[in-house]
Amino acid sequence: MKSSQSNIKKAKNYLVKNHCVAVPTETVYGLAGNAYSDISVKKIFKLKKRSMNNPLIVHYYNINRLKSDCYINNNFIKLYNKLSPGPITFILKLKKKSKISKFVNCQNKNLAVRFPKHPLFRKLLKNLDFPLAAPSANMSTRLSSVQVSDVSDEFGSKIKYILNGGKCKIGLESTIVNLTSRPSLLRFGGLDISKIEKVLKKKILININSKSKKKMAPGQFSLHYSPGIPLRRNVKIPKKKEAFLLIKKRKYTLKDYYYLSKKKNLNEVAKNLYSMMRKIKKKGYKMIAIEKIPNIGIGKTINDRLNRASKY
Ligand code: TXA
Ligand code: MG
Repeated sequence: MKSSQSNIKKAKNYLVKNHCVAVPTETVYGLAGNAYSDISVKKIFKLKKRSMNNPLIVHYYNINRLKSDCYINNNFIKLYNKLSPGPITFILKLKKKSKISKFVNCQNKNLAVRFPKHPLFRKLLKNLDFPLAAPSANMSTRLSSVQVSDVSDEFGSKIKYILNGGKCKIGLESTIVNLTSRPSLLRFGGLDISKIEKVLKKKILININSKSKKKMAPGQFSLHYSPGIPLRRNVKIPKKKEAFLLIKKRKYTLKDYYYLSKKKNLNEVAKNLYSMMRKIKKKGYKMIAIEKIPNIGIGKTINDRLNRASKY
């Protein structure tokens, strides 16, 4: 499409000048900057009001471009071959001679890397001679953005450009696996861990709520993904004035009932969850209730996010 070509050009022009640009991915929108530039990376943290010791994910076009920045291991190659591009982030060892800005990973020895699947984002990455550091395009601790209007609500005119790629297909962030030692899961996400286990032919350690003081991923902190109003889970009957989120059609529905899916399709629930919570907040509700979500497949990720969101 001609218009998409010129939009990619626009995004590129801002990025090469060290500005930040919002980009669509298959999971959620990202707030991207040149991962090799200190100026660019510092801007990302400032815009999001993010703590400088919460590292960013770096997005690459393909494995060849990654090789100058990270050490590649066998588990990574297996997972990359089967599951990339896609909603999975890998933690790898950073090379000393890598050009990655020290602000990206807070001077850590590891780097989070991802190969996003959205065709527009891929085209943009292909056209750049640097990878893109990109956290989710939202103010720190808040809900991620899944469409252009969400990004505008979060940042207004503070960001130079939003590359419009429509509504995100998955709607929840990527699955994060640490591959620097025995494979472990740091964040439930858009890719079901059973797929990862199938490729590796072994179970992976679940390390998402590590009690240890040194948390691997600050996404493990409890206050995160917050809709900004209290949320109650596993609700059968809502209270008065609560917005009630449902995943299966009811015989009788009331005006405060909102459907994330009508047929208990959990992929649909994931895709609609954040945008529905934003809509409800905008309508002026002061509380959200949600019915029980089955803890299977992407349901695990939905429950993880709801659990954190309910800690508000
Ligand atoms: O789907 C996604 O992953 C989206 C899109 C834009 O790619 N990005 C995203 O980024 O969710 P962010 O910054 O919102 O969440 C990244 C998580 C954070 O919890 C961060 O602490 C963790 O990844 N992380 C980043 N680098 C890490 C590292 N070197 N070691 C451990 N955790 C890391
Ligand atoms: Mg985030």
